[in-house]
Amino acid sequence: MKKALALLTGALLSVIVVAAPSTAPGKAEQVGIYPAHIQAMIDRNANLVGRINPFGTVCIEGYECAVKVSKGLAPAVEGEIRAGNVIYEGVCANCHAAGLIGAPKYGDKAQWSARLGKGTATLYTHAINGFNAMPAKGGAEIPDQEVKNAVDYMVAAVR
Ligand code: HEC
Repeated sequence: MKKALALLTGALLSVIVVAAPSTAPGKAEQVGIYPAHIQAMIDRNANLVGRINPFGTVCIEGYECAVKVSKGLAPAVEGEIRAGNVIYEGVCANCHAAGLIGAPKYGDKAQWSARLGKGTATLYTHAINGFNAMPAKGGAEIPDQEVKNAVDYMVAAVR
């Protein structure tokens, strides 16, 4: 069941908001790595995307959906806890590589300094449970420890 709302800004951007993200049975989990011109368009509309994000999944018509990111990750071997770089590349980089919707950019010390001051425990909690436009676990269904590994990996880049 898909409740879609299309918003058009100019001729290019068409955003579909899917209510009740990620829970619909049989709904394919999708990953979107957009071409540069689409990514640039998303970045120009970061505030819009950020406002929609708490209520649904933002997708670009004609492309796979960006926000539901868990398929970017190869399936875990049973019982295996994946390393931080693997989780980062497969999940977190979707927003943190480019600084999408206000996400602090990977490796950008200036953007991370105030966040580091919160302490690692708070960063873990925010990454696991979500924080403003940051979705819980980056939208992926992964163990808490893998999220912590990814936080450690991102923090190590800005220490
Ligand atoms: C859909 C985009 C998106 C994805 C995917 C995403 N993040 Fe974020 N993240 C954000 C945004 C936006 C913020 C800034 C939230 C704010 O400060 O209001 C953020 C902030 C954070 C913070 C700082 C929290 C704080 O208290 O300052 C951490 C840590 C973090 N993300 C970790 C992760 C990890 C780990 C992953 C992957 C498992 C991940 N993020 C995936 C969007 C994302």
